[in-house]
Amino acid sequence: MSENEKLLVVKDLVTTFATPGGPLPAVGGVSFDLDQNETLGIVGESGSGKTVLSRTIMGLQPRTNVTVSGSALLNGFEVVGASERAKRQIWGTDVAMVFQDPMTSLNPVMRIGKQIDESLRVRHGMSRSSAKHRAIELLELVGIPSPQQRYSAYPGQLSGGMRQRVVIAIALAGSPKLLMADEPTTGLDVTIQAQILNLLDELKERLKMSVILVTHDLGVVATRTSRIIVMYAGRIVEMGTTRDVFQDHRMPYTRALLESSPKVASPSHTRLVTIPGRPPNLLKLAAGCSFAPRCAYATDRCRQERPELQPAGDPGHLFACWNPLPTTRGATPQ
Ligand SMILES: Nc1ncnc2c1ncn2[C@@H]1O[C@H](COP(=O)(O)OP(=O)(O)OP(=O)(O)O)[C@@H](O)[C@H]1O
Ligand code: SF4
Ligand SMILES: [Mg+2]
Repeated sequence: MSENEKLLVVKDLVTTFATPGGPLPAVGGVSFDLDQNETLGIVGESGSGKTVLSRTIMGLQPRTNVTVSGSALLNGFEVVGASERAKRQIWGTDVAMVFQDPMTSLNPVMRIGKQIDESLRVRHGMSRSSAKHRAIELLELVGIPSPQQRYSAYPGQLSGGMRQRVVIAIALAGSPKLLMADEPTTGLDVTIQAQILNLLDELKERLKMSVILVTHDLGVVATRTSRIIVMYAGRIVEMGTTRDVFQDHRMPYTRALLESSPKVASPSHTRLVTIPGRPPNLLKLAAGCSFAPRCAYATDRCRQERPELQPAGDPGHLFACWNPLPTTRGATPQ
């Protein structure tokens, strides 16, 4: 697929927050692309920049104290530097996001039907009756039983899984080409997590969307993505096909993430990732590899020079490491 046919092309994207402690580079120069109808996973520990990257790609930043540079070309639209007005044209129709905290994405005092209607009427200019009709269709599409009745329910009357289905229905209201799901199953119990992830898979096929699945949990992406990006301290440290990342990873951080993740084959992947040591303070990034203080393979060079991404062999498999792992041992996706 040529670059023109890609749904998303991100080049050297940098997002820096101005903070009282100085500039904080939450995303430090990220490049990747996404095909039509592809599911891409973005993984990394808490604070690695997954949410800021996703929001930057959507053009959703705070109004002040943030600088963005580079390029994010979404379905031919340059998001970086675009006005709010121009971005409103692509929100919902080209890209939609299921936000990290589903419980706060819904208004607790508004009936769920109204919340979907509102999105359809404000964003897509539908009449009241067509919006209601479409809202019920969307509730059905996301697997909510008795959608006619549920249309009038308040969020508090639904279970966590059902609420997350409503959040997904709202995101789908404008038939987006790209759905970004930021930790879409956090806080849900294991069986419900699987149901929501299965629903996203089904919807992707049915609606011919691309999906970016953002998670700290490798179990979530093991079987559901074609490619994976591994982030550390705001940068991509390894990316490749899901098989490359699970079985032929070269970057020690990727291995640490895999080893410290709950078993990918196990259905009970609810434990948070813990790797010895702490992620770096982004306000005080050292010159070399950001993972060096926690890496068993670190050498002097690692502490002095930052490794850039380099090809690993398989097309599209890249890693950033001076002392890459030679083996292909790792967890196997089921
Ligand atoms: N508005 C902001 N102002 C200043 N710093 C911010 C802001 N938003 C995020 N950050 C910082 O940017 C870094 C990346 O945060 P981000 O939320 O993208 O991490 P994450 O990978 O999504 O983590 P998690 O898995 O916990 O959701 C963190 O250090 C965070 O504190
Ligand atoms: S560059 Fe050095 S410190 Fe960084 S991951 Fe590779 S071996 Fe470890
Ligand atoms: Mg996040």
